[in-house]
Amino acid sequence: MTASSLANAAYLVAALLFILSLAGLSKHETARRGVAFGISGMAIALVATFILVVDGEPGIGLVLLIVAMVIGAAIGLWRARLVEMTGMPELIALLHSFVGLAAVLVGWNGYLAHGDFATQSLEDIHNAEIFIGVFIGAVTLTGSIVAFLKLSARMKSAPLVLPGKNWINLGALVLFVILTIAFVINPSLWLLIAVTIVALALGWHLVASIGGGDMPVVVSMLNSYSGWAAAASGFLLGNDLLIITGALVGSSGAYLSYIMCKAMNRSFISVIAGGFGIEAGPSDDTDYGEHRETTAEAVAEMLSDAKSVVITPGYGMAVAQAQYPVADLTSRLREKGVDVRFGIHPVAGRLPGHMNVLLAEAKVPYDIVLEMDEINDDLAETDVVLVIGANDTVNPAASEDPTSPIAGMPVLHVWEAKNVIVFKRSMAAGYAGVQNPLFFRENSQMLFGDAKDRVEDIIKAL
Ligand code: TAP
Repeated sequence: MTASSLANAAYLVAALLFILSLAGLSKHETARRGVAFGISGMAIALVATFILVVDGEPGIGLVLLIVAMVIGAAIGLWRARLVEMTGMPELIALLHSFVGLAAVLVGWNGYLAHGDFATQSLEDIHNAEIFIGVFIGAVTLTGSIVAFLKLSARMKSAPLVLPGKNWINLGALVLFVILTIAFVINPSLWLLIAVTIVALALGWHLVASIGGGDMPVVVSMLNSYSGWAAAASGFLLGNDLLIITGALVGSSGAYLSYIMCKAMNRSFISVIAGGFGIEAGPSDDTDYGEHRETTAEAVAEMLSDAKSVVITPGYGMAVAQAQYPVADLTSRLREKGVDVRFGIHPVAGRLPGHMNVLLAEAKVPYDIVLEMDEINDDLAETDVVLVIGANDTVNPAASEDPTSPIAGMPVLHVWEAKNVIVFKRSMAAGYAGVQNPLFFRENSQMLFGDAKDRVEDIIKAL
């Protein structure tokens, strides 16, 4: 058996393992197994690549491969060990930008190391592959950088609304098609430079035009783009595994974006087209009146008298690492006979399932942790809702104010409860940068301070 057929067989096994990995990751119970399949697939793919290089170009090629792998592994290990759970989405966005960059470099290399082709049509296909790979890669590269900057709060999360922004996006796409045809007819360097610049600008503009509330969908959409960029590189390099893996990432990312859009009541087309149809809302100078403050002691008393309590956690619970005292408070109240349940919004926190992971970590029983749709109808009958570090996910403007930037997004109807206690440090807005009228409602009271400290104060007072 030659090294190349051995490598191809190994690639096929790796591709199967990646499919099994995706299947495993779709359920809580099998997620660990899914990760193990993924790691095994990647290990087999790396060994096969190694064998191919040793067989083909043992000299400089091997040295370059080893150097690249050592640098990549060192950076990967360093970042993965440091990253906080709350920082995962921005790390993922940054990793997508690397895939985009790799696709651009592979495309450029395909142009510069241009070989001879048996027929003209093969050469035309090769040129089209270069162009498409560079285009998708460059859009992914700058789009992911903007997503990283927005998620890490290094850039404003409000959408950039340039005049005629949809025409800018459409114009860039039309230009891409024209440039591709021109490049296939006459593959000159300036056309490749032009498409790289157009795609870099388009990626930047697409993601900058999307507001903070839609960022979770953008990250999964960029995940999908990075898959297609990898698949395009696979065609250029003649690497089947890269094509299969890229297509898997591309299609599963697109599907995840679609599911998330449905969960957030957003138009899928609108989000992938860079906020198409989303215009700047009126600036919010509404006077909502005064908010009221409360103390941990008063909340402890209210909780002791309550029959039913619902806790709706958000990003602030993760920041404060308040899940342990929250779990403690829950078990104490349950011992007193209070019915305590959790209401989890699908995008609470900064990554899908963020709150569920934290609560499971603190050993909150699964059966009292309910999804938004399971608990929303019960909120009107609830004595006390504790909003712990959540903001956008409990904002009544989403369902009551059609001009709000988060209008139409399903939210937890906490304001329908008899009493609402909001745990946060200030009156600052949430991730989407939108004011929350909940804080000024008659039945709402603010408990200011770090969520962990305040929950501990309540436990002491109980
Ligand atoms: P947010 O709207 O982000 O609000 C979190 C609140 O927590 C803030 O208003 C903040 O107010 C408070 N907070 C921060 N640190 C705190 C601390 N140590 N103690 C107490 N409070 C603290 O959170 P959410 O309701 O969970 O909504 C999630 C948002 O993130 C949505 O807009 C969603 O679209 C977006 N997003 C979600 C994801 C996924 S997939 N889940 C990914 C990216 C973005 P103070 O500063 O006043 O304390």
